[in-house]
Amino acid sequence: MEKMSSRAARHTNWKMQLFDDSDVSWRQYGQNDPYYGVFSAERFRVKNLNETSLKEFFESGEGHIDDILRTASRHVNDRIAMDDALDFGCGVGRLVLPLAKRFQSVAGVDISSDYIAEAKRNCDRRGIANVVFGENLSSFRAAGRSFDFIHSCIVFNHIPWSRGREIISEMFRLLRPGGVMAIQVLHYQEMSRLHRLARTARKFLPLHWLINLSRGRHIFEPLMQSNEYPLDELVALLHRQGAKGLYIRPDSNKNREHWAVVFCMKDAA
Ligand SMILES: C[S@@+](CC[C@H](N)C(=O)[O-])C[C@H]1O[C@@H](n2cnc3c(N)ncnc32)[C@H](O)[C@@H]1O
Repeated sequence: MEKMSSRAARHTNWKMQLFDDSDVSWRQYGQNDPYYGVFSAERFRVKNLNETSLKEFFESGEGHIDDILRTASRHVNDRIAMDDALDFGCGVGRLVLPLAKRFQSVAGVDISSDYIAEAKRNCDRRGIANVVFGENLSSFRAAGRSFDFIHSCIVFNHIPWSRGREIISEMFRLLRPGGVMAIQVLHYQEMSRLHRLARTARKFLPLHWLINLSRGRHIFEPLMQSNEYPLDELVALLHRQGAKGLYIRPDSNKNREHWAVVFCMKDAA
């Protein structure tokens, strides 16, 4: 219970922004409500976390990594080297922990130093010592690192495509020959034109503040952007980089949101 109370002891200290900057928003989630930032259900608020919700949270990561590696092996490369893996947008380490059991070494990347600090605590609590963290990909590139498996889940929807495409290209460059990349993207949301317009307008945050108040949240709780990635452009981008074995698996389509995991590999030749 001591571990739980140290998590709950944090204050919620949301700061006002006028226009949404997703990096600023995610640093705020990392500082104030990191588990809720990953799964936006009330049971994952810092103040509500308990053994049951944490168990559910971390078990979901085990299941996800099992599923992704099984699919990668069945459809893209059945001989992925299990040496070095990278998880982009690692949050509190939900997926880093199962990756660390399967790979020799894991790198977790997150824009928020508070998320990284919590992910480190989660590794320490479990005696996991083969994980390193960084706030961006360039530190790993500068250190000459490369990876056999690069993964990202529920991250790119929060980053506009114009920026995400650069990050995805950089991730592909960090892949070793024979390495596999698996990234989850939100590619289509069924909504009316008016709804689409309102979603864009909400980046001017006073509109979002009203929605926060109507839902009983703190007025300044940040927006979680919901950016669609054009699958056709993404496939072309990866193809231009020399990606092979492209495999697209439709993921969940809950709430009229259509997601996909895009798998590819770097040619072993
Ligand atoms: C919804 S959480 C998902 C966390 C983790 N992937 C999981 O599934 O448990 C999104 C994470 O992406 C991180 N993130 C958002 N933008 C980022 C960026 N530009 N670079 C690195 N991490 C980013 C956030 O800080 C947050 O930890």
